[in-house]
Amino acid sequence: MRTNHGPDLRFTPLSQPQHHDRPTVLVVDFGAQYAQLIARRVRELKVYSEIVPHRISAAEIAERAPAAIILSGGPKSVHVEGAPSLDPAIYELGVPLLGICYGAQLIGQQLGGVVGRGMQGEYGRARMTRVGPSLLLPDDAPAEHDVWMSHFDGVTEAPEGFSVTATTPGAPVAMLENDERRIYGVQFHPEVVHSPHGMAVMARFLHERAGIANEWEMSSVIDEQVAEIRERVGTDRVICGLSGGVDSSVAAALVHEAIGHQLTCIYVDTGLMRKGESDQVVETFRRNLGIELIHVDAGERFFAALEGVTEPEAKRKAIGEQFIRVFEENTGGLTDAKWLVQGTLYPDLIESGGVDGSASVIKSHHNVGGLPDDMELELIEPLRELFKDEVRKLGTELGLPDEMVWRQPFPGPGLGVRIIGEVTPDRVALLQEADAIVREELRRAGLEREIWQSFAVLADIRSVGVMGDERTYGHPIIIRAVTSDDAMTADWARIPYDVLEVMSQRIINEVPGINRVAYDITSKPPGTIEWE
Ligand code: XMP
Repeated sequence: MRTNHGPDLRFTPLSQPQHHDRPTVLVVDFGAQYAQLIARRVRELKVYSEIVPHRISAAEIAERAPAAIILSGGPKSVHVEGAPSLDPAIYELGVPLLGICYGAQLIGQQLGGVVGRGMQGEYGRARMTRVGPSLLLPDDAPAEHDVWMSHFDGVTEAPEGFSVTATTPGAPVAMLENDERRIYGVQFHPEVVHSPHGMAVMARFLHERAGIANEWEMSSVIDEQVAEIRERVGTDRVICGLSGGVDSSVAAALVHEAIGHQLTCIYVDTGLMRKGESDQVVETFRRNLGIELIHVDAGERFFAALEGVTEPEAKRKAIGEQFIRVFEENTGGLTDAKWLVQGTLYPDLIESGGVDGSASVIKSHHNVGGLPDDMELELIEPLRELFKDEVRKLGTELGLPDEMVWRQPFPGPGLGVRIIGEVTPDRVALLQEADAIVREELRRAGLEREIWQSFAVLADIRSVGVMGDERTYGHPIIIRAVTSDDAMTADWARIPYDVLEVMSQRIINEVPGINRVAYDITSKPPGTIEWE
């Protein structure tokens, strides 16, 4: 991803993790995507979960006193060279443990069973058959049913003390269970939707075998965070840079719930926002939630800085510098602030390797563009334990409107990087109209939540057209819509033709100067999501 100069104000989070005495499931990470999905599924079952690296020692686990451990999937076989392993003393802790896919093979291998070599493997749907009484499979799961597999080797002989309770054509030991030690393994992926009884297997493991109650929910997150923020902050002043995006909005609403008017939010309106976005931020925060909000209407300054600038990096730089200056001027009166709210999410922490945290004091001038040099702020990151879908739920519980909670990611430099060539007020106004139509039609078609980002781009070219009896010489709008999980890769969205047709007709009819609409069918890589 490109450097982030803009209202998003992100930087590597460093503050200390907070410890709560709630039952926690530790998901041991043998492959990041698997681990994150498992952790989210556990939370969907209302049990709090955290991801830990596979190098974690038994002593470290014991110190965290988890209610259960889940070993995630990972490399496809324990026989792969350099395949990661687990501290074998972890099996002796007496903590209920479930190994999934690779995790099941590890149990097989480390506890004295046999993992086959050079097996044929299974990818995708496989038919699983019960071969013995199981404490994990739900009673209503048929004797034969589908599961989702992704492995080549697998356990061929269960370790002593384990019973084999299910098999598939490619996995003689598809499930292994030792109830005395409360250690279980499944070769299939219970966490994916293609394993129809998978969630029930996870639920039985968590609630019955490990005996964890299903109590973790958003309202308890709110209560915990509110109490914690009040205690940490005392009577200090707190500031929060709002970008209009989901994360900073929900973080601000949560902190406000805790400390009310001690929080001041700053929203820098760059003039490069989407249509109606600034009004909505002001309306929601100031009027609906009663949050103290400094709304800096700085469009003119940004346009002045962008005059004649056409090169993409130069544009980003101009916007970034201007943002810092404006932010600094407007926090000048808040020198008594001691805390800064950041909308850091759990995946941000995992990806930056900061799950275990370290120093908590942030020197503002090193990290947050725009805070006066002598301001030293401590971070409040009330969302640092949450995944994006949980943040959305939390936002709804805190009374934020759907449009804000379901807002798509938006780049810091805003529409500035969606206008090819010079960024002028007129061109921004024009793009805002076209962009609003794209998003409105997608919402009308019910596709909004399936699509990661959808927007219009204003190109710096002209083409000839004919409208009525007249020849036109106008500009094209390019529609960009992508599906993605994390913005690192993306695919162009297969929007139905009739939806594209309405978008095209409306844009050409309603936005003056546009006489053509094109659809961008480039994936990432090789393209990027944004055009600049
Ligand atoms: P690209 O265009 O690199 O974008 O595929 C990946 C994701 O990042 C967003 N993006 C930005 N976000 N500041 C941000 O806060 C930026 O400068 C920036 N540039 C791109 C983009 O919208 C997409 O979600």
